[in-house]
Amino acid sequence: MPTLYIKTYGCQMNERDSEQVARMFVQKGYTLTDRENEADVILFNSCSIREQAEQKALGKMGLLSKQQHRPHVVYGMMGCMAQSKKDELFKELPRLDLVVGTQKYHRVFEHVDGILRARQERRMDELQTAFSGTRVCDVAEEADSQNRIRDHLNPGARSTAYVSIMQGCEMKCAYCIVPYTRGTERSRPIRDIVEEVNMLADAGVKEVTLLGQIVNRYGREMPAADGKGGFVQLLEAVHEVEGLKRIRFVSPHPIGFRQDLVQAFTYLPKLCSHIHFPMQSGSDRILKMMRRPYRNETFLDLCARMKQARPDLSITTDIIVGFPGETEEDYLLTRQAVEQVQFDNAFIFRYSPRRGTPAAAMEGQIPEEVKEARNQDLLAVVNEIAIRKNRELVGTVQEVLLEGPSKTNEERLSGRTSQNRPVIVDAAPDLAGQLLPIRIEESTGFTLYGVPCPSRA
Ligand code: 5AD
Ligand code: SF4
Repeated sequence: MPTLYIKTYGCQMNERDSEQVARMFVQKGYTLTDRENEADVILFNSCSIREQAEQKALGKMGLLSKQQHRPHVVYGMMGCMAQSKKDELFKELPRLDLVVGTQKYHRVFEHVDGILRARQERRMDELQTAFSGTRVCDVAEEADSQNRIRDHLNPGARSTAYVSIMQGCEMKCAYCIVPYTRGTERSRPIRDIVEEVNMLADAGVKEVTLLGQIVNRYGREMPAADGKGGFVQLLEAVHEVEGLKRIRFVSPHPIGFRQDLVQAFTYLPKLCSHIHFPMQSGSDRILKMMRRPYRNETFLDLCARMKQARPDLSITTDIIVGFPGETEEDYLLTRQAVEQVQFDNAFIFRYSPRRGTPAAAMEGQIPEEVKEARNQDLLAVVNEIAIRKNRELVGTVQEVLLEGPSKTNEERLSGRTSQNRPVIVDAAPDLAGQLLPIRIEESTGFTLYGVPCPSRA
């Protein structure tokens, strides 16, 4: 039985896409392996968002594909870097067999299996076949066919799942490569999504995360119902799914974030008390240059209104430091906004120029040392807040979805609170998949430790 090793870089969308691809291979008789040097097929699902993400995947694929003693192995690159670099990748990685864009996942199996079979036959009878040197570059131009494979890899084993609700992004933020790799915005119909969530809930999934580049633009073409836009209509429909306990979504954008969505936090109890809400910068001047058409005040006001709607809401964010033209003053405005919102956590990125994006060609590119200094300075502010908020939870009881064995200690379970904080729980393995009140006993900075309440110990 041939084996597949698949490695995923980047965002949750890539994770979701990798699951679909893996599922296809498993359905056709492949087994999955996490040992790359045993695999017959090695696939990387790549990310382009920053230079570093690309370098990591290129470096690792370069190393693996040097395994000359296993000439039958098929190497493929899928995902955003495949979409954006296309054939260029064959030059950078001479042993690569396959490049598949973000909207052609359904064809990966066909291509790979064809190449692998031809190579294996050739090995057997020493015949040179047409496939021996074939390289396939299959990068999409047409609309996607996501969700042809609707079921998931191994739903019975999991209590959480990602559900893609839309593809693409048309915002064209000046720094971002996504609009060029993921294409135009397309929303799936509500009934398809609800059907998928129903199927997941039947299989034991308790929490779904709805995925889209800008989820609040979901279903923009749908008529409003009761003053509610498409995304809130979707949330309400998913909320009805029996057996489902929690709903999350990533990521919203301040543009088009209306009161109906703020209000949803007041009457949808399954909606978790967490929002990942990218701010990017606290300076209006930089936001404008980033082509993010809102002012920082609008962002802060939305945060305040959401907290009013759901007082225990945790807000996390993405911030870019060192965007072209960012002065010390601009940076300090970002820092000030971080202090004002008191984000529960933040991903801080040093600006990384991406090919073909407007910001890459802007004047005033910031030296790496300055980006690094701002990154470190802001990280200290963010970490201090995050650690303090975690410490404040010691002694409280939190509802935790126990997801499975902890990675660091198989004898304990790991889970997350409604606010998306990771908790390591001293509990029997058979409690995996349950949503339980947990007493938080300790915090070591970023991780919380707890016991079921009342304690079974
Ligand atoms: N450089 C640095 N960070 C970036 N992001 C997107 N593009 C870039 C870039 N060119 C960040 C944004 C986005 C997150 C997923 O990645 O903050 O929200
Ligand atoms: Fe990129 Fe902006 Fe679209 Fe997010 S909203 S994917 S940052 S272009």
